Amino acid sequence: MPAASDVATSAKATLTINDQSPVALEGLVGTENELGLDVTALRAKTKAITLDPGYRNTGSCTSDITFINPEAGTLRYRGYPIEELAEHCSFLETAYLLIYGELPDQKTLDTFVSLVSDNTAVNDGLLKILDGFPPDASPMAMLSACINGLCGYHPEVLQVEYEEHFDVTAAKLLGKVSTLAAAIYRHRNHEPGHPTPRPDLDYTTDLLRMSFADGHVDKGTAKAMDLIFLLHADHEQNCSASTCRMVGSSHANLFASCAAAVCALWGPLHGGANAEIMNQLQRIHDGQSIDPDSFIAGVKEKKYRLFGFGHPVYKNYDPRARILKAQADAVLTGMDRQDDPLLKIAKRLEEVALADDYFVSRNLYPNVDFYSGLIMRAMNVPTDMFTVLFAVGRMPGWIAQWKETRDQAGKIYRPRQIYTGPAERHVVPAGER
Ligand code: SDX
Repeated sequence: MPAASDVATSAKATLTINDQSPVALEGLVGTENELGLDVTALRAKTKAITLDPGYRNTGSCTSDITFINPEAGTLRYRGYPIEELAEHCSFLETAYLLIYGELPDQKTLDTFVSLVSDNTAVNDGLLKILDGFPPDASPMAMLSACINGLCGYHPEVLQVEYEEHFDVTAAKLLGKVSTLAAAIYRHRNHEPGHPTPRPDLDYTTDLLRMSFADGHVDKGTAKAMDLIFLLHADHEQNCSASTCRMVGSSHANLFASCAAAVCALWGPLHGGANAEIMNQLQRIHDGQSIDPDSFIAGVKEKKYRLFGFGHPVYKNYDPRARILKAQADAVLTGMDRQDDPLLKIAKRLEEVALADDYFVSRNLYPNVDFYSGLIMRAMNVPTDMFTVLFAVGRMPGWIAQWKETRDQAGKIYRPRQIYTGPAERHVVPAGER
């Protein structure tokens, strides 16, 4: 893993602040010729810091894991285009690629899959955490609590030097998060008992089998969900991945760092969007809102936000949305749900938005959440479980980002600020205020 200082540097920048003498800044050039000005010594040299609310112009790290070209709308995991991985690989195969950097040969893949499936069982004592939650509690609250709770049953993950345990710790998290998701699914459905994994089934089929009351999973549904997991597996330094890296930079263990990432994903501007889209479509359908065209007019008047549209990075179509759009049509046709009323509203919203300059001029295209929500709804997945399943898919990415943070052995994340509060003042006794 090259440290920032080892990455090719070619550009040079000179910064002159007021009457200070010019300061030279090194330019780090990435694989795809992105230029990053290295400001690690800026404050020491100039007393100035950079200010970038939301970090939209700030790189927190160098990374070998995922690359997005926002203008071209391309996404690659460890150099492989997402379209090729979606066509040729499984979710766990892709998880191995993200975590270890290479696509595994068959023997390595079989070993990895076995290690994960050998670690899917969750201690009944841990699952009792769910009994403390009302069934209608947020599934994301249950997921973050349970992932943190894993530390109580696997104290080895708390050891500071993580390397010797990493492979099995990562496999435990990947394996157990599927059983936890199924247990949460059943708890919210008031299903009795805790799920028991079947290592003889593939990862995604067994997660769905443990979740669904009748235990029946058809191959098409399992294939569609495996693709959804794969497409969600990582996405550079998004809000939840950055949270995972931030927490991991304090040398907090993998489970705690990913539990924090679950909380970041929860937000409706991030992973919570897939559920919010469904709620939005349902409100339009139930007449609680208005018809699609009037809804779009309301969005343009800034009365509503069109969930599932727009992206912090992509200024073109999200390539994952393109893949899922085709998948949505196939799944819904296969399930004879193409007449689904919400799907019709979604397609109308997309049609109107893509033809309207308000959206086009702001680069507001459908994102991954727009279609993943429609597919999961077609599978009868409850809306409030959508983001839990997003978290299952994103787990390999968080694990890879956490590992890279620890491998880079960088400093603890500690952003600066520009203070704008009151100047120094002194306390006077309450009676004199
Ligand atoms: C994910 O970072 C990642 O990679 C995330 C993710 C991942 O895989 O990890 O890709 C997953 O989070 C996808 C995004 C899911 N979120 C949603 O679908 C929620 C709806 N989208 C918006 O909230 C919004 O688009 C964001 C939050 C996603 C991005 O917002 P930005 O980049 O901060 O854009 P902005 O708020 O500065 O908006 C720019 C303009 C504004 O209008 P003007 O002030 O220029 O007039 O676009 C408008 C905004 O009002 N706008 C929208 C809109 N999103 C932006 N208007 C209506 N509907 C929207 N969805």
